[in-house]
Amino acid sequence: MRLTVIGTGYLGAVHAAAMAKLGHEVVGIDVDTAKVAKLNAGEEPFHEPGFPEVLREQLATGRLRFSTDFADAADADVHFVAVGTPQRKTDGRADLTYVDAAFMALTPYLKPGALVVGKSTVPVGTAARLAEVVAARWPLVATHAGGGEAPRVAWNPEFLREGFAVKDTLEPDRLVYGVADLEPADASSPSSRSASEILDEVYAQILQRDTPRIVTDLATAELVKVSANAFLATKISFINAMAEIAEATGADVTTLADAIGFDSRIGRKFLNAGAGFGGGCLPKDIRAFTARAEELGRGDSVAFLKEVDAINLRRRERVVQLALESCGGTVYQHHVAVLGLAFKPDSDDVRDSPALDVAVRLNGLGGHVCATDPQAIETARRLHPQLDYAPTLAAAVAEAEVVILVTEWAEYKALTPESLAALTPARTIIDARNVLDAAAWRGAGWTYRGLGRP
Ligand code: UDX
Repeated sequence: MRLTVIGTGYLGAVHAAAMAKLGHEVVGIDVDTAKVAKLNAGEEPFHEPGFPEVLREQLATGRLRFSTDFADAADADVHFVAVGTPQRKTDGRADLTYVDAAFMALTPYLKPGALVVGKSTVPVGTAARLAEVVAARWPLVATHAGGGEAPRVAWNPEFLREGFAVKDTLEPDRLVYGVADLEPADASSPSSRSASEILDEVYAQILQRDTPRIVTDLATAELVKVSANAFLATKISFINAMAEIAEATGADVTTLADAIGFDSRIGRKFLNAGAGFGGGCLPKDIRAFTARAEELGRGDSVAFLKEVDAINLRRRERVVQLALESCGGTVYQHHVAVLGLAFKPDSDDVRDSPALDVAVRLNGLGGHVCATDPQAIETARRLHPQLDYAPTLAAAVAEAEVVILVTEWAEYKALTPESLAALTPARTIIDARNVLDAAAWRGAGWTYRGLGRP
């Protein structure tokens, strides 16, 4: 099939390459000329394991290319819209500027019968509104004169995790299609295929593996995405709330998580207490969901998400507090090393990153903060040029009095008391992800502080 993917960020670029891998002819379209040039040259604009290989492999087949020209969308059967919906600066709502602009730019080039499939995370109700916009505008602006079957809009949320984006796209847990034509195709156009039949053809290879597929209305599909992220955020904040209780009682939240996680109704995944969640999805999605629910007069139903957000932000504060305690009450002019800047390992994304936030706060309190990360120094530097960045772990800890592990990269998890002691004068470690063996570090003479651990 001929496909386009509008927006070539984490979601769109990976989706475009993955669709080419499934055998489709794909044009990725973005307004960012530099990004498009990079992608066409086979250079990844962000760090994502496995993506550069698929990108280069698929460019070489000739089935994948990137463009800044929406006219290149004209021949496609299916258009995926995968642009960002960041949090608005003024309030918690989602900024739909890019989604609206993508639909506006695309509509004139839609051919009869085309399907526009939203993948961006949007407030519930957006898909129905955009379907009306396309239906009203298309006959007026279409370059394909002479009528024909009007284009349709579907919503197909994406659940990919950064760091696993290629795998999550090609081997998803489930496919969700939100469609306006849930009822059988209308009698006046018996030959036309339903939106879900078209999506089945796009994802034929994935469906062959018995991947669960849920076909539902537009509103449910939009809600599936935000409610999944709200649930994951709640699970993390739940265990972080237990960490706060553990801190008041001397209990150990990691043992608690193991014990409750054995209950298969609860499960151990997403029960890692620590510095909390960040990234381009969970924080902004729970805020946008809260704002949308309030608009709908149902603010009470998700009022708990404000608490989820508050618990999450308190954990960063707790890391800062531990650093202060470790330096004798103030970090002013004390040397602190921060290991990790990305919001999670295997990513260079620092959006709403707990690690970067901790580094910036300690720096603001007058500490000599030296931060490092295997991939995210450049993205962090763009946002916070005032911070001191070290290219390596060894350089970051060389003068440190306290070392704080905030993003659990494999190389930081593999640290031993001996290996770190050889690099730094520090003998205090704050393990803000609870990934180190507390007994081993204490046994080797270190002061070990975890989150929600004695
Ligand atoms: C998330 C969802 O998982 C994904 O399905 C959705 O499509 C996009 O948002 P992502 O932002 O890539 O994906 O990261 P995820 O792996 O979910 O982690 C989010 C944050 O939660 C990270 O900062 C991580 O460190 C934190 N986290 C995760 C915890 O603090 N504890 C946990 O137990 C798990």
